[in-house]
Amino acid sequence: MKKRSNFTSKLGFVLAASGSAVGLGNIWRFPYLAAKYGGGTFLLIYLILAVTFGFTLMTAEIALGRKTGLSAIGAFKSLDRRFGFVGVLAAAVPIIIFPYYSVIGGWVVKYFSVFVSGGAGKAAGDTYFTDFISGTFEPIGWFFLFMAVTSIIVLCGVEKGIEKVSKFMMPVLVVLTIIIAVYSLTLNGAMEGLVYYIKPHMADVSAKTILAAMGQLFYSMSLAMGIMITYGSYMKKENNLESSVRQIELFDTGIAFLAGLMIIPAVFAFSGGDRSALNAGPGLMFMTLPKVFASMKFGGVIGTIFFVLVFFAALTSAISLMETIVSIFRDKFGWGRKGASIFVTVLSLALGVPSSLGFGPLGFISWMGMSVLDIMDFVSNSVLMPIVAFFTCIFIGFIIKPKTVSDEVKVTDGTFKAEKMFNVIIKWVAPIFLVLILGSSVASALGVFTI
Ligand code: PHE
Repeated sequence: MKKRSNFTSKLGFVLAASGSAVGLGNIWRFPYLAAKYGGGTFLLIYLILAVTFGFTLMTAEIALGRKTGLSAIGAFKSLDRRFGFVGVLAAAVPIIIFPYYSVIGGWVVKYFSVFVSGGAGKAAGDTYFTDFISGTFEPIGWFFLFMAVTSIIVLCGVEKGIEKVSKFMMPVLVVLTIIIAVYSLTLNGAMEGLVYYIKPHMADVSAKTILAAMGQLFYSMSLAMGIMITYGSYMKKENNLESSVRQIELFDTGIAFLAGLMIIPAVFAFSGGDRSALNAGPGLMFMTLPKVFASMKFGGVIGTIFFVLVFFAALTSAISLMETIVSIFRDKFGWGRKGASIFVTVLSLALGVPSSLGFGPLGFISWMGMSVLDIMDFVSNSVLMPIVAFFTCIFIGFIIKPKTVSDEVKVTDGTFKAEKMFNVIIKWVAPIFLVLILGSSVASALGVFTI
């Protein structure tokens, strides 16, 4: 059998995995959830969940990948044939997400091109975004372009493609985020936004806060979709798994926090403290922020920098999605990287077109008020991910036993500091919470209640 490719160093692994974790979710979703669910209290809850649950699930997935040297389907199957279905479900998640994520990636590239060519004023127009996404060929063109860039990097392989790009883009992303956050804090009226972001608001905290934070955590850390299993399969045994996971968490949570510093004060300054502007969901990034940029000094430059950093974040996440799919096909059918990459590109282009057209010519397709893209997002994130995570916990907790993971973590230097916590969470606490997350997201989609 051909030797599996590896990340060349621990840093390479950590940056590539952080590249997957840091994405659109960190930049628009985290700040908006934090603002909605209690500010400082949400931040604190999120942090606690990240170092407990997030840590446990991520460690489990990376260990499964490194131990078996396989991607999701093969990893589960090779340890217990009956659990191959969990791998299949996990594999379905990136296959669903990658196409629509790349549609949004295309929107980001479009906005970058508008800002860099001096169109900040244009982009701030009231109907600019909706006019754009309801088009037919233009959004598809940007989507294809984004997908092409992703494919080229994946074609170049683990070391020469993914690791190289991550080592360049992730540090640049941090620097750009800090630049905008600092600038944003100097705006008139920004302090009010800062206080709103980090001060605890107990009145906005409820059980839903914890569920919202959990849901965000899974998505943000790219868990339960086979990504960390795949990346783990490229990790060398001499790199310390436990400390790598800590570093990835720090990266992911740090960028999410900084994204809040970048966006919330600016939106407050712009809206004169009216926080409803923050509730725009995805529209925040493409509708509200362009208005904010247009209203500030150097807005054209800041907007350009902003969309570059969002592009880097989206691209490194898209790469991890595509690599996971490619590696599943390679493991399953013994295909080469090139053939598998081309196949996945064509498949994903075809699957993404309906999501892109769902705001225009296919706008009549809707289910519970959701567009095609929203439906894909709902099925993958709110339904499949909790199910996969639940079975992953059961599989590790009761079938192969936590010791299998502990042994893998200890391979490097014999230590696993958080072993006790890991055992309790994977067997008991996480499964219970995952059932609650699944129940609440399905209930909220069906309109029973909303979180
Ligand atoms: N973790 C990414 C984010 O925060 C989302 C993502 C999920 C990306 C799965 C790739 C794969 O935006």
